[in-house]
Amino acid sequence: MSGTFLYEGKTKIVELAEDGQSVILTFKDDITAGDGAKHDVLDLKGQYCSEITARLMHYLNTKGIYTMFLNYIPPNKIRARKLKMIPLEVIVRFKKAGSFVRRYGGNEGEDLPGPLVEFTYKSDVMHDPLMCVEHLEALGILSREHATIIIDEAKKAAMLLKEFFTLHGFELWDIKFEYGFDESGNICLGDEISPDTMRLRKAGEIFDKDIYRRNLGNPLEKYEVVLNLCRSILL
Ligand code: C5P
Repeated sequence: MSGTFLYEGKTKIVELAEDGQSVILTFKDDITAGDGAKHDVLDLKGQYCSEITARLMHYLNTKGIYTMFLNYIPPNKIRARKLKMIPLEVIVRFKKAGSFVRRYGGNEGEDLPGPLVEFTYKSDVMHDPLMCVEHLEALGILSREHATIIIDEAKKAAMLLKEFFTLHGFELWDIKFEYGFDESGNICLGDEISPDTMRLRKAGEIFDKDIYRRNLGNPLEKYEVVLNLCRSILL
């Protein structure tokens, strides 16, 4: 399956599909951290993250969340709606961790009173600066109306995923989403949902990219556990 090349990022290649309407995302085996400062290639990573993304987005679709997911093309591709991506990372946090603790203090794993949504501007050179809705409006990145829709959608999607992982005995601490506009101007969930883009814990054990960030070994053994529980979602 090959189409017209559109874009290559750190972990994905985007091509226009033969139908001219949808895109084919190829998930690479690359893993990065620290805005690309740390980089490795791990055999099977693209396969694991594409299948996890496919199944979790399908799950969200069945729960009424509008996602890019159309179909999974094993081993490491997804056919998706073509979106005009918004250059933001939308983070939903249930517990304090990572940059939240570095910025505001507190301890890793402490509860937040409810799902908390943050926007960061996607820029490795600027180190993804935190943005409030006023910044988004002033810089012409997003209108207040669209920001409000995204906050609401991100909370809904994160709560549904939290519920799914809780059923399997896991704690979803936080998660990062990316959104885009479809051809009709509707906001749609895009990119990826995998252990690369969330913090997932079980009885103190780490099942996410913090294994890699903290040099705790090859994370794929744990990613495979996550994949196996996601296989309960039938495509
Ligand atoms: O590092 P930080 O605490 O801001 O990350 C919050 C969540 O967003 C984590 O689950 C992390 O994996 C995810 N994230 C991401 N891509 C980034 C930054 C954070 O997927 N560039």
